[in-house]
Amino acid sequence: MTKSAGSTLPAKIDEEYYQISEEILSSFPKFRPPVDLFRFKEEALTLIPLIRKGQRLTNEQVEEVHALCLAGNLFVSRSDHPIYSEHMVKQLDLVLQDSNLKESEVADICMRALIMRHEAFAEQPVRPVFDPLYKDIMVFTEILWQDRHRIKLFMRRLLRDYSLSKHAFNSLIVGTWLLLRVMEGGELRRRDLDRAALAFFLQDIGMAKIPAFILNKPGSLKAEELEKVVLHPTVSYKIMQKLDLAFDELTQTSMEHHERLDGTGYPQKSKGQQISRIGRIAAIADSFAAMITKRPYAEAKEPTQAAQELAADHKRYDGQLTGFLAAALLTGAVS
Ligand SMILES: [Fe+2]
Ligand SMILES: [Fe+2]
Repeated sequence: MTKSAGSTLPAKIDEEYYQISEEILSSFPKFRPPVDLFRFKEEALTLIPLIRKGQRLTNEQVEEVHALCLAGNLFVSRSDHPIYSEHMVKQLDLVLQDSNLKESEVADICMRALIMRHEAFAEQPVRPVFDPLYKDIMVFTEILWQDRHRIKLFMRRLLRDYSLSKHAFNSLIVGTWLLLRVMEGGELRRRDLDRAALAFFLQDIGMAKIPAFILNKPGSLKAEELEKVVLHPTVSYKIMQKLDLAFDELTQTSMEHHERLDGTGYPQKSKGQQISRIGRIAAIADSFAAMITKRPYAEAKEPTQAAQELAADHKRYDGQLTGFLAAALLTGAVS
């Protein structure tokens, strides 16, 4: 992209405006941009208003805007960030092309996009709703692939209130953090990261089929209610199988995230080595994700407290993995 204005921009402009790239401009409705547009006046080293948001553009104006953009002289005010970011939530791949966004802004937009995609998929687990979710997970893994340390930005964004999709986001982040931690210094293939991320994100999707009154019940569950809950790993697996997506990682996270090392889990009561590594990670991610949010039957725990409790429970959870999580949280390495 041409950056003609960028190098000569006064710091104040740089702080208050984004230079807008061609990819982003072309993602806006052509004749009615949703944000105010400004042009850079090189002679005066200043920005002047060009188009008001919502204004209907003539063909000539569309061309002028396009030419200014190509020359690197088209800007958006940072005060329009809410509109700008809302736009990106719906087209997440744009964050990969926008060098003006701060890393924290990228993480926020990515989080909102993923939760929105999950909500839509939980409601309607069909291929056309899955495809954009998958695309956004690939944006998430690309963000990490460019710099694995960015997982910390997401660890700082774990949600403390519960919804199925927020829980899925927490599980995705903690699961991915654990995987990256385990693979530190080792060889992680991009494809494995992609698959694992998708698997952590969707392991609980079967919960969408359990009636809300059961999930939100404060007291203990009746036998037939419990039966429904215990089935959700299998339901997750079946939903993905229907979409032709039952690859190993997804099968393992779905079927094993409630298994426990001592055989007290469900649905298969698997034990120790019978549970795959990704299944063990999934179990910790899922439990931790749930413990730090408020539920009708339990208060939200502090992340350090939750991690310590999991680490103390070495009969049921993999001690090496819970140790990594507890150590990182206690030393503030991820906060
Ligand atoms: Fe679950
Ligand atoms: Fe869960």
